[in-house]
Amino acid sequence: MSTTEPRSDKRPVTDWETDWDHTDPAWVANPYPIWESLRSACPVAHTERFGGAWLPVTHDAIHAISYDTEHFTSRSVVVSELRPGDNDLPAPIGIAPPITSDPPFHADARRLLLPAFGPKVIAGYESFTRDLCRELLDAVADRDIVDAAVDYAQDIPLRVIVKMLGFPQSDAEVFRRFIHMILEAVDVPAEERMNEREGGELDAYLDARIAEHLAEPRDDLTSFLLQAELGGEKLHPDHVRGTMVLLLVAGIDTTWSAIGASLLHLATHADDRRRLVDDPSLLDTAVEEFLRVYAPVTMARMVAHDFEFEGCPFKAGDWVLLPFPAANRDPAMFPEADKVLIDRAENRHAAFGLGIHRCLGSNLARMELRIAIEEWLARYPDFELDDPSRVTFSAGQVRGPRRIPVRVR
Ligand code: HEM
Repeated sequence: MSTTEPRSDKRPVTDWETDWDHTDPAWVANPYPIWESLRSACPVAHTERFGGAWLPVTHDAIHAISYDTEHFTSRSVVVSELRPGDNDLPAPIGIAPPITSDPPFHADARRLLLPAFGPKVIAGYESFTRDLCRELLDAVADRDIVDAAVDYAQDIPLRVIVKMLGFPQSDAEVFRRFIHMILEAVDVPAEERMNEREGGELDAYLDARIAEHLAEPRDDLTSFLLQAELGGEKLHPDHVRGTMVLLLVAGIDTTWSAIGASLLHLATHADDRRRLVDDPSLLDTAVEEFLRVYAPVTMARMVAHDFEFEGCPFKAGDWVLLPFPAANRDPAMFPEADKVLIDRAENRHAAFGLGIHRCLGSNLARMELRIAIEEWLARYPDFELDDPSRVTFSAGQVRGPRRIPVRVR
């Protein structure tokens, strides 16, 4: 399988313990053996790249760092050559609350969003999601080869969030362009990418929708955000727009990656595909297992002040990459960690993160994933990967297949 090429001006990695780079083509293509060998070599790897960064690969270490908000800040959650500038909003708020916030502010910023992503609210979007999946499958019904990523997985989270925000479905194209810009700029920190926002086009679009909702409140996520209060005050429209951008960044390519990885697995493992078709009651455990094995999201922290972690001299301002996907493959936590067991009963995976920043959209992501797989299998109980050499993966901290050509008949 080929990969989306990361920057070509970088030195290839020859020593993963002392010089790792998560944008190296070897990592992008297949990070799992790298993490496996690091797990036995050292608890935490280091690199001088990115101005100095650490890489824990065991479940224990990733867990400990995620829960330790005293020594680690979420001020910047994407490792890059560009460090957060002095003009950026400092912790505890950060540029995209709550994901870039630290305690105590984080709890308030998170609390105000929670009701919009609770299980009951999300269940209300199930029938829309199901109809959408069917519509996407109808649109390619005459083809023998369908791209499960481009023609299907990509559109599902995009159009569901457009629906939740109360925007016209015909405007999904604005967001699609924005997401492409984000995915192409893998070496630019997400915070900066959020600032670029398509030369102001996205901001102008969101401002227009916010103005409409202020004039005429509706029963949707935009009006919910405009009515939400923080410290007894309504959110400023700029804050609402920032939160919308965060939801787009956090919710679309993550879920697209998870749906795509699951369909890629089923396209290449006929035994699991047949088992799931014959016994749909396995769907819930299968979804959790796909999330565990193909977890798409790696986050980062910055060291808040100098201290020693597992014998390593962490210095204030060092990056720490948090590969939740590596935690999910740790054999000390999961028996047969590299195996996909679609009926795995005990599965406390870390795909949605650990600690105070645990994914706020997990109900939504799970719902989309379950319905996407269910509807795909209802339409195509039999399908297989057409050309493995045309499968590509995204580079960067959200990893997932971006091209999955499958033969459906
Ligand atoms: C399969 C899909 C998804 C995966 C694997 C995923 C993964 C994650 C992870 C690992 C974190 C933790 C961040 C950290 O520790 O720094 C996170 C946080 C977050 N996610 Fe997701 N996510 C997914 C889908 C979504 C969706 C659909 C939404 C909403 C539209 C969303 C919204 C958020 C938000 C707002 C946070 C920040 C929470 C906080 O800081 O308290 N995510 N996600």
